[in-house]
Amino acid sequence: MGLQALRGTTDLLPDDLLRWSRVEHVARRLARLYGYQELRTPLIEDASLFLRSVGETTDIVQKEMFRFADRGGHEIVLRPEGTAAIVRAYLEHALHKTEGFVKWFYLGPMFRAERPQAGRYRQFHQYGVEAIGSSSAWVDVEVIVLCLAILRDCGVVKTTLWLSSMGCRDDQTQFAARLRLKLLPVRSKLCQTCQGRFDRNVFRVLDCKSPDCQAIVADLMASERGLRPGSFESLCESCLLHFDEVRQELRNAKIVFDDTKFFARGLDYYTRTVFEVRAEGLGAQDAVAAGGRYDHLVEDLGGPSVGAVGFAAGIERVLLAAGHQAQPLPAASRRGVYLAVTQSDLLGQGFQFLQQLRERGASGTMDYDSKSLKAQLREADKAHCRFVAILGASEMSQRAITLKDMEQGSQETIAFDAFVETLVQRTNASPSCH
Ligand code: HAM
Repeated sequence: MGLQALRGTTDLLPDDLLRWSRVEHVARRLARLYGYQELRTPLIEDASLFLRSVGETTDIVQKEMFRFADRGGHEIVLRPEGTAAIVRAYLEHALHKTEGFVKWFYLGPMFRAERPQAGRYRQFHQYGVEAIGSSSAWVDVEVIVLCLAILRDCGVVKTTLWLSSMGCRDDQTQFAARLRLKLLPVRSKLCQTCQGRFDRNVFRVLDCKSPDCQAIVADLMASERGLRPGSFESLCESCLLHFDEVRQELRNAKIVFDDTKFFARGLDYYTRTVFEVRAEGLGAQDAVAAGGRYDHLVEDLGGPSVGAVGFAAGIERVLLAAGHQAQPLPAASRRGVYLAVTQSDLLGQGFQFLQQLRERGASGTMDYDSKSLKAQLREADKAHCRFVAILGASEMSQRAITLKDMEQGSQETIAFDAFVETLVQRTNASPSCH
């Protein structure tokens, strides 16, 4: 068997990238509109960063990190998510001292050694935002509104927003104690992993995928309403106030949400607001975006005590959902020029024209292998070029080029002298071939 991409990883060929770039463009444009500036952090990080943030008992840290020792014996991981690394960058560059509040946007590959299936990959891509340095409920609202606006503009409109509050650390400690008490009688019926989780991080039991544990949790949630995270009984006064504010302002912003669903996030750093956006048509892996508040992470990683909130969306799932919801992103419109030369001794003249166009900012390409005109026209079509400029013996003798407009289906002849200027003018609005 020939060499293949690793399981759970995919090549993105130019046609795929046309759709990908649309999502990236929409996300970047809207993030900028809301005042979020782009940043990039490395793909590799010190393993301890994720142990201290995502949580030692989470599936991500226990089973899913690509972890290896470098030559110096340092434990390195391929980042499984963006938030922890972004907080690390915030602290490393002392932005808590110089800026205080930052609003950041990011985009890039993440890595988790999960069992690959539709919508779940080992290298996947997220775009997301993190607003670090504020505890205001308004920022939660802004982040959620932005998350939904990007999805909508990417064609993902059939979504459900699940909203909850995990409360503060004290709330979580009390909640965990009550949960342990209720689970104690059925502890031996939990799966092996959850029996271990019972003492170390009982919240993870709520997140367990084993059918036995899921049935126990469902029973418990049905009989003990107060045991739901986000319920009135599970939050202290100030967390309840914060959650009420978020809900009220979301309603004012005409955002529909469901705050009755129980869900557990797979990362330990959350406090207060948590949310997931589920998209219709995605099957089991239907969380297209998710996020929440992490008011202790900056402090836990050595910084001051400041609030923070953010979200991340999986680009693969955004594209899958947009496809299923019968609103696939339109292919990019036709752009640029394809220079078709019909005999090899005219390559030099053709190349000169092409260079003049490129120098003036009009994108173009040509065939260097003397293919037939028909084959070249096919290539121009595949490359989504707007114009085909034909240069053959008769064009040479008339010193004029035949220009086809592939979008309008029209054809005309343009004198050599006027060719570059005309094309520069016409391609001005659509400068790139790809
Ligand atoms: P997360 O829920 O682990 O949160 O991931 C966010 C999104 O990334 C998911 O909703 C999903 O669309 C996508 N995703 C996750 N794992 C995979 C996978 N194996 N294959 C394909 N897509 C996947 C976080 O990562 C947090 N950092 C979000 C956040 C930002 N919270 C606060 N700020």
